[in-house]
Amino acid sequence: LPKACIFDLDGVIVDTVPAHYIAWKSIADELNIPFTEKDNEQLKGVSRVDSMKRILAIGNLEKSDEEIEALTTRKNDRYVEIISKMTPADILPGVREFLHVLAEAGLKVALGSSSKNAPTILKAVGLSDLFQVKVDGNHISHSKPHPEVFLLGADRLGLHPSECVVFEDAISGVQAAKRGGFPCVGVGLPELLHEADLVVPDLKDADLTIFKRLPSFA
Ligand code: BG6
Ligand code: MG
Repeated sequence: LPKACIFDLDGVIVDTVPAHYIAWKSIADELNIPFTEKDNEQLKGVSRVDSMKRILAIGNLEKSDEEIEALTTRKNDRYVEIISKMTPADILPGVREFLHVLAEAGLKVALGSSSKNAPTILKAVGLSDLFQVKVDGNHISHSKPHPEVFLLGADRLGLHPSECVVFEDAISGVQAAKRGGFPCVGVGLPELLHEADLVVPDLKDADLTIFKRLPSFA
C-alpha cells in the first residue's frame, strides 16, 4: 500500500467544474470570446490568472495586468456566489467513504488543489478534518501541470512522491503528478487522462483494492 493519498479538490472531491465553467463563460461572453465546455476541459487544474490568460488567448485579446486582475476578481465573485450554497450533499459519490477507508487503514490523506477557495469549500462540505495536510492555490507559485502543489504536499507529509498516490480529474493535474514522480489515478475519461497509471470513472465503491491496480503497488 502507499503511505498517503493526495487528492485534487475540484472534480474529484466536489463537483465544482460546472460552477467554474458558468463563471468563466459569463466573463468570456462579456468579452465576446467564444468559450466552450471543451475549452473548459483544458482549464481544469489551471490557476485563476492562467485560466484568464488562456481564455484571452482564445479571443486573441491582450489585457493589462490590472484588467486581468479586475476580470479574475469578477469571475471569482460569481464563482463564490454559486458555491456559497454548498453543503455536505455536494461531496461526490463514494468520496467520504473512501476517505474513511484510507484513514482506517492508516494511510495519510492530503489535499493538492490549485484553488484559493479550497479551505472555504472543504469547510462548507465538512471534510476539513479528514485531511492531515492541505496544500492549495494560496501556497504555490506554479500552477499544474507544474508539480509544485504535489511536491509540497509530499514534503509536508514527510514522504517521497513514490509513497503517495495522487487522485486527479484534470489533464494538467495528471501531468503534474507524473512530472513530480507520483503514481497517479485519473478520475474521469481514459481518452483524456491516458497519462495516468490507472483511470477510474469516479470514486464510487473505491476501496484499498484500487492500489493493486497501480503498477508500483501491484
Ligand atoms: C482548480 C480548478 O482546482 O482551481 C480550476 O480545476 C481553477 O478550474 C483553479 O481555475 C483555481 O481556482 P480558484 O478557486 O482559486 O479560482
Ligand atoms: Mg480537478
